[in-house]
Amino acid sequence: MAKQQENMGMDSVLKEKRIFKASVQFSKKSHVPSMVAYDKMYKAAEKSPDKFWGDIAKNFFWFKTWKKVVNWKNPDAQWFIGAQTNICYNALDVHVGTWRANKAAIIFEGEHGDQAVYTYSQLHREVCKFANVLKRRGIEKGDRVAIYMGMSPQLMIALLACARVGAVHSVVFGGFSSTALADRINDAKAKAVICSDGVSRRGNVIDLKKVVDDALVNCPSVLNVIVFQRSNNAVSMVEGRDHWWHELAALASVDCPAEKMSSEDPLFILYTSGSTGKPKGIMHTTGGYMVYAGYSHKHVFDIKDEDVYWCTADVGWITGHTYVTYGPLLNGATQVIYEGAVNYPDWGRIWDIIERHKVTILYTAPTAIRSFIRAGDEWVNKHNLSTLRLLGTVGEPINPEAWIWYYNVVGKKKCPIVDTWWQTETGGIMISPLPGATPMKPGSATKPLPGISVSIVKKDGSPCKANEGGFLVITKPWPSMLRDVYGDRDRFVKTYWSDIPGAYFTGDGARRDKEGYVWIMGRVDDVVNISGHRLGTSEIESALVSHEAVAEAAIASRPDEIKGNSLVAFVTLKSGYHGDSDLKHELQNHVVKEIGSIARPDEIRFAEALPKTRSGKIMRRLLREIANGNMNVSGDTSTLEDFSALEKLRVHDDE
Ligand code: WTA
Repeated sequence: MAKQQENMGMDSVLKEKRIFKASVQFSKKSHVPSMVAYDKMYKAAEKSPDKFWGDIAKNFFWFKTWKKVVNWKNPDAQWFIGAQTNICYNALDVHVGTWRANKAAIIFEGEHGDQAVYTYSQLHREVCKFANVLKRRGIEKGDRVAIYMGMSPQLMIALLACARVGAVHSVVFGGFSSTALADRINDAKAKAVICSDGVSRRGNVIDLKKVVDDALVNCPSVLNVIVFQRSNNAVSMVEGRDHWWHELAALASVDCPAEKMSSEDPLFILYTSGSTGKPKGIMHTTGGYMVYAGYSHKHVFDIKDEDVYWCTADVGWITGHTYVTYGPLLNGATQVIYEGAVNYPDWGRIWDIIERHKVTILYTAPTAIRSFIRAGDEWVNKHNLSTLRLLGTVGEPINPEAWIWYYNVVGKKKCPIVDTWWQTETGGIMISPLPGATPMKPGSATKPLPGISVSIVKKDGSPCKANEGGFLVITKPWPSMLRDVYGDRDRFVKTYWSDIPGAYFTGDGARRDKEGYVWIMGRVDDVVNISGHRLGTSEIESALVSHEAVAEAAIASRPDEIKGNSLVAFVTLKSGYHGDSDLKHELQNHVVKEIGSIARPDEIRFAEALPKTRSGKIMRRLLREIANGNMNVSGDTSTLEDFSALEKLRVHDDE
């Protein structure tokens, strides 16, 4: 746990006093209509967690029921012990047997405007066919399958088909580079890759198959590649290894019984950045994840059959797993899936989609909201957004000004906003308003969901006083908690269960006000949040150091109006190299090649030396202050090894 606590204050948030409430009509119709109802639920869960979660789990289909709800021996939890289910069965088959068979599950829109609707029964057929394709290619229960595709119904079909046959999916966001993809494939020893030929992004086709080809040069475990034809870009197919999705699916039967999965069988791995080393494969299992995805999606989004729900997250991130693929389908919802950039071909695209598809619930990221604010209200006001009834945000703190804009300009003062705090590791939303119940304070994720126990503590685990900043921890097990870091149990124990005695450590700083509202203050470790995406400073540093010219590198972040944070790389060069603007560009591109464009440093600064402690650790706090343009570097510099290093960086800063 690094010392970033000085970064934890957000001045505007500390002064925020405004309170907003849902209208009486909204509350009356919502699943949890008042704080009295919330408190009752919360207390019931606290008093008897087994009964609380057991009752919720009864709403799902199980091939075999559980003997016990939870076994908990810190840090290991098992949920719904002895039970068997299949999340794909719960997402599709249970609806196909009802009037929802012909209800739209997915309304898809491509970036060029092409559209497709999949009803629950159509989606079920496609998933069954593709599950049979996987089986024919030798994929069995427990095998890992990597997925590298653009946003499309087929991306969801790929995940659901894996879940149906019991294969463990590992989705890699389509913006990651071939090196990053290969690392993830190798870490999981994936047996197959499912990809698309390409995806449209701002009018260009990104050649995803080529990235897969480059990655697979170094991935001996992969025997099959199944390619969905989306963009019709030219691709090369390797004989015996590569197959077209449509050719295999044309031969496949629509009959594919769902595999009976034990509740604790792995469902997926999703890689995310941590403070040290390579990204971690966060592992989630079947029963608990399913129950929590359905429960949280229903209550936070107050989902109803008549809603048209749109979460703009890519399935490559956890939000796209829980609140695009699984949560909405478990609840039988209708949702919009959009392929491209929400501001392409212009800043009106997102509002146009909402108007045309009559979206009622919009879930997006603060970084997108901030960019829409900058683009201007006129883009929003050109469109009829009267169908919207609920708004949500995720991924990073939302500053109160952006919250108010979202509330006034997009929601026309009638839509509650759910500011949802959670993580890849938590599997689902932990802290959020329940929209019909919780009075909202802009900038606060408000209160934990019933069944979730959070606390803000000092390093020794003792609780902080009201309004005192500390570490955000989760003190009791919850069904969708991560079960492991894939293949690295030590890292799982060390990262999450060792810093704070007896609790799960989130890596976030927070404070709680007198009314029990949680205010997230950002990461307290070496993870940075850029446009709502998590990046480890050490990953980017390793990428830089892998360039032949670089001796040493340190990454610092500074606040950015749109992206939340931007990245500054401090780099020392090996002798014989000259730090000029060409090399700056080369290093930026090198990081893109190693990780992906989301990790491109916004600025590269060459230095003769980096400030280090006597024990040789880079003093990141000092670099952060320099990156922030703070000349009067404050705090304790007494452990600094070579003060002249700092002086030189400051001189550089003045240039
Ligand atoms: C941050 C995304 C403030 C936080 C679902 C967390 C937030 C990290 C919020 C997880 C929020 C997420 N307010 N900060 N509403 N939601 N975060 O794993 O720092 O990509 O630890 O999961 O994002 O990022 P991840």
